[in-house]
Amino acid sequence: MLRLDKVSLSYGSFRALHDVSIHADEGELVVLLGSNGAGKSSIFLTMSGLQRAASGSIRFGARELVGRKPSQIVADGLVHCPEGRKLFPGMSVLKNLTLGAYVHRRDSRGVARTLDEVFGLFPILHEKKDVPAGSLSGGQQQMAAIGRALMGRPKALLLDEPSLGLAPLVVKQMFDIIARINRAGTTVLLAEQNAYAALNIASRAYVIEQGRIVLEGGRDELLNNAQVRKAYIGA
Ligand SMILES: Nc1ncnc2c1ncn2[C@@H]1O[C@H](COP(=O)(O)OP(=O)(O)OP(=O)(O)O)[C@@H](O)[C@H]1O
Ligand SMILES: [Mg+2]
Repeated sequence: MLRLDKVSLSYGSFRALHDVSIHADEGELVVLLGSNGAGKSSIFLTMSGLQRAASGSIRFGARELVGRKPSQIVADGLVHCPEGRKLFPGMSVLKNLTLGAYVHRRDSRGVARTLDEVFGLFPILHEKKDVPAGSLSGGQQQMAAIGRALMGRPKALLLDEPSLGLAPLVVKQMFDIIARINRAGTTVLLAEQNAYAALNIASRAYVIEQGRIVLEGGRDELLNNAQVRKAYIGA
């Protein structure tokens, strides 16, 4: 359903992505592993239209995404939950969530229904809906960022390092919730450095180093791969 074919991206004269080819089938949870600066976020920014690929193709269903505007890509059903949450800290939780439904704003009943689903998944966000997003804990802010992405009603969700900076117990809850979102039918592409936890809920994974895909395989294959264990799991 989602397929990058030989995608390259440059920032000025620096080439951040070299012929990246990855795909996710409908209903899959695919993990993108890579250390700092490997190019994980660059892949997501290119998919969501915030960076323009220098070459290559990005297909989402029957559609070519290269050249489409970010808002069109959200309306197509591909939604990006960015690294670092990117909430509006002074706005209420509810307002932040509602912004995620911008492309559906004419469908107020649909938006209300999706909001109920998001509150069902994250009851704490309902409790805190009127407080400024900036006053939430790190884990709650990540929930709000995922909730905002879900308000866009994604068919496919790009999650960029959702566990970053969270306490271990909260990380576990976060991965449980991501697995639930996937089981409910949303295709998920998950960029993570927390390889063990991410692989545990994944169907397949890719490893990216210096802008190149260097390894790909099924969950168990990568969990048992010596190179992956050494670089990303520390065992
Ligand atoms: N806006 C930019 N301008 C110039 N170089 C950039 C820009 N954004 C990223 N880069 C460079 O592109 C490379 C890939 O960065 P990217 O953010 O995609 O990596 P990442 O895998 O997401 O890393 P991290 O785990 O730290 O988030 C890095 O060398 C980074 O310094
Ligand atoms: Mg990143």
